[in-house]
Amino acid sequence: MIHSASFFGLFFMLLNGVFGDTDGVKSVSVMEGDSVTLNTDVTEVLRDDHILWMFGPRETRIAEIHKQIIDMYNSNEIFGDRLQMDSQTGSMTIRNIRSEHTGLYKLQIISNKGTSYQRFNVTVYAPLPVPAITRDSPQCSSSSSSNCSLVCTVMDVSHVTLSWYKGNSLLSSISVSALSISLSLPLEVEYQDKNTYSCVINNPIRNQTQHLDITELCQTHTCADQRSSFMMAVAFIALLVVIAVVAVKTRNEEMHYAEPAFCTRPLQSMDVFTEDHTVYSNVVI
Ligand SMILES: *[C@@H]1O[C@H](CO)[C@@H](O)[C@H](O)[C@H]1NC(C)=O
Ligand SMILES: *[C@@H]1O[C@H](CO)[C@@H](O)[C@H](O)[C@H]1NC(C)=O
Ligand SMILES: *[C@@H]1O[C@H](CO)[C@@H](O)[C@H](O)[C@H]1NC(C)=O
Repeated sequence: MIHSASFFGLFFMLLNGVFGDTDGVKSVSVMEGDSVTLNTDVTEVLRDDHILWMFGPRETRIAEIHKQIIDMYNSNEIFGDRLQMDSQTGSMTIRNIRSEHTGLYKLQIISNKGTSYQRFNVTVYAPLPVPAITRDSPQCSSSSSSNCSLVCTVMDVSHVTLSWYKGNSLLSSISVSALSISLSLPLEVEYQDKNTYSCVINNPIRNQTQHLDITELCQTHTCADQRSSFMMAVAFIALLVVIAVVAVKTRNEEMHYAEPAFCTRPLQSMDVFTEDHTVYSNVVI
């Protein structure tokens, strides 16, 4: 007697588990472009079963199977040809899913065992960009001499976390939710640091990693290089000024010198003038 009662109880619980009026929400995370299947957990749709899928806050009917006939309503307006309903199970597959398909999907199953509902909270995530690591202060006068300042950046992201790792341990992180913005996260390392650092962007499904190459990005002589090239530029400009001044002076002197020559011996002075003109051009170049 007891045995059969508990058996009945177990049997009833199983029925309840499959067809019960469970009002919990199943969370589904999927990357844009991927396919996702929302399962009914029905093993075989019977002739009198009625399975209906709805989408969004207005519970728009998007797919139905009733008397073993599938009706996709006007789902192509929202989903194009992405929706597919399995006639065996009533499960629904969305292929090549887009971000606008994020939202609440409601499933209603009417069978001879009663009516049940399920809800699926589907979140579609955009592909992750690869983080970029750059030197933070190229003018290097503001950064301390023993440290190299870096920054990790990602552009136009939402629902992601950006983190710096030293080996496997998390150093710092920053998160963004709905808004599509650019994120950057600074890091200070010593020039001689031999640890491995990486900048990681992740959402609940995927991650993208960029490893830091300290020797490439943090060459100690970057500052010196910049200073010496600045000094070279200054020297070059100074040289140009000197040349210009000399040229002007030379021309004035030549004019002064050529004038009396021109007055006294016109033929020779033509030769002198041509010669002077050639010399002057060479100096300017
Ligand atoms: C759906 O999931 C998102 C993100 O996980 C959450 O913010 C939202 O509140 C959920 N909606 C429902 C109705 O559970
Ligand atoms: C240099 O960086 C280390 C971490 O790598 C940090 O502990 C230290 O305070 C920094 N020093 C300066 C002067 O910013
Ligand atoms: C990134 O994803 C891989 C699997 O794709 C996982 O093994 C790894 O732990 C993840 N890394 C981080 C930092 O989340």
